[in-house]
Amino acid sequence: MEQNWWQRTVVYQIYPRSFMDSNGDGVGDLQGIISKLDYLKTLGIGAIWLSPVYKSPMDDNGYDISDYRAIASEFGTMKDMEELISQANKREIKIVMDLVVNHTSDEHHWFIEAKKSKDNKYRDYYVWRDQPNHLKSTFSGTAWEYDKKSQQYYLHLFSKRQPDLNWDNPKVHEEVYDMMNFWIDKGIGGFRMDVIDLIGKEVDKEITGNGSRLHDYLKEMNHATFGGKNLLTVGETWGATPEIAELYSDPVREEVSMVFQFEHITANWPGEKWDAEPISIPAIKEILSKWQGLKHGWNSLFLNNHDLPRLVSNFGNDEKYRVDSAKAFAILLHLMKGTPYIYQGEEIGMTNFPFKDVDQVKDIESLNMRKERLEKGFSNNEIMESIKKVGRDNARTPMQWNDKKNAGFTKGEPWISVNPNYSEVNVYSEINKTDSIFQTYQKLIELRKNNNWIVYGNFELLDTEPNVFAYIRTYEGETYLVVANLSDDLQFLSTSYEIKSSIIGETPQSLSEVLLSPWQAFSVKV
Ligand code: GLC
Ligand code: CA
Repeated sequence: MEQNWWQRTVVYQIYPRSFMDSNGDGVGDLQGIISKLDYLKTLGIGAIWLSPVYKSPMDDNGYDISDYRAIASEFGTMKDMEELISQANKREIKIVMDLVVNHTSDEHHWFIEAKKSKDNKYRDYYVWRDQPNHLKSTFSGTAWEYDKKSQQYYLHLFSKRQPDLNWDNPKVHEEVYDMMNFWIDKGIGGFRMDVIDLIGKEVDKEITGNGSRLHDYLKEMNHATFGGKNLLTVGETWGATPEIAELYSDPVREEVSMVFQFEHITANWPGEKWDAEPISIPAIKEILSKWQGLKHGWNSLFLNNHDLPRLVSNFGNDEKYRVDSAKAFAILLHLMKGTPYIYQGEEIGMTNFPFKDVDQVKDIESLNMRKERLEKGFSNNEIMESIKKVGRDNARTPMQWNDKKNAGFTKGEPWISVNPNYSEVNVYSEINKTDSIFQTYQKLIELRKNNNWIVYGNFELLDTEPNVFAYIRTYEGETYLVVANLSDDLQFLSTSYEIKSSIIGETPQSLSEVLLSPWQAFSVKV
């Protein structure tokens, strides 16, 4: 009953700037990625989601694209990109491109043209108004920027160097679909669609996410480009509920394969993420279990990415129980129903960065927030605490390959500081040790390849102590139990199941009365 390759595979996200530098300029690049494909093959992943590598002035590290059909010179050339696709495909790894079409860079030729005059042929590719309304930019302040020359405001839901495309204009659709087909013809494996739930925005109603025409656009996009071609498509949708996710991912609706939902990520963000409260495990448990209940759609499974703090620092304990908490979340997430995504470095338990000084902060979102909050009277210390907790640079420090200079990331000066814990936390030491975090991921990926219960089995949450997350998967008469103690304390677990065999993790003798050690996690057939 195999349906789609992407239901059995695990995707690995690469943030090119920070993965591997091949030429010593301190910036990761495509040849760097090519040199690590064998490592990824050893891990066992089946696809790479590549954060943007297109030509860009890098105001938002490539999420501001000035040419969708060219590669940023710091990352390499189109020839390098073609080589990456073919070298990856040789290893049965597909390349999933980041599709950023809610906005372009202000250096895109469409925008350069659009700014020239109100009657320019490209004017209507963007959103112009005589007066701003209340829409806000995700990167602080108003979403409107005044253009002196043409005396109108243009919309930017992100930085002012990321003008929003006007999806009310059918020409924009055609341009985007043409570009997508250009990449499909190069042999890519799919698209990760950046803030895709914003393209149906209804500007004058001040509606940004989930606009009324969003699903029509996605169906149209599917038919004009990737539909029927067996590609993985995943939409980034901050506003998705399970009901909305069914609309996106029910195959009969012909939109996308799945979406990234963020309910478990934003659960501890009261208003702004900068004021994040401590994680509540019972809340996470409730949210993730609810999402396991999708009926016709398909889930993505992730706990971190390039915009979020590191998994072990955010959800686990990155000090005393770094290794155990990293493994516990891996086991918990990878045995759920859906397609798991690993963010670079997660497989070796990389942690947040100990930011001290604002000079160490590179991210436009954090820098804009700092400016805004300083004006509002926050202290520098308060601001640095927020950045340390949830700033996006936590995920963007260089990949830690070994315990040599700059963690083996570059022979030059890295564009952003290397985490000082690299002598302890690095790929070289992980792959040379038994029972490491890396080996836990490797085993989980392998298990998914060979076990239908992981891919298709039914999910049921067990009633346990609040900080224990335990669930049952059932498939064709077989039953599997997955247990994770998500706390620094001993926890008691009692079930009536009998162990038939051990699947992964630190398995107890029996399940009737178990004292779980901190962050103990395992799966057994029962
Ligand atoms: C998405 C990306 C983020 C980017 C933003 C604007 O949320 O993941 O990195 O800054 O969109 O493109
Ligand atoms: Ca480089």
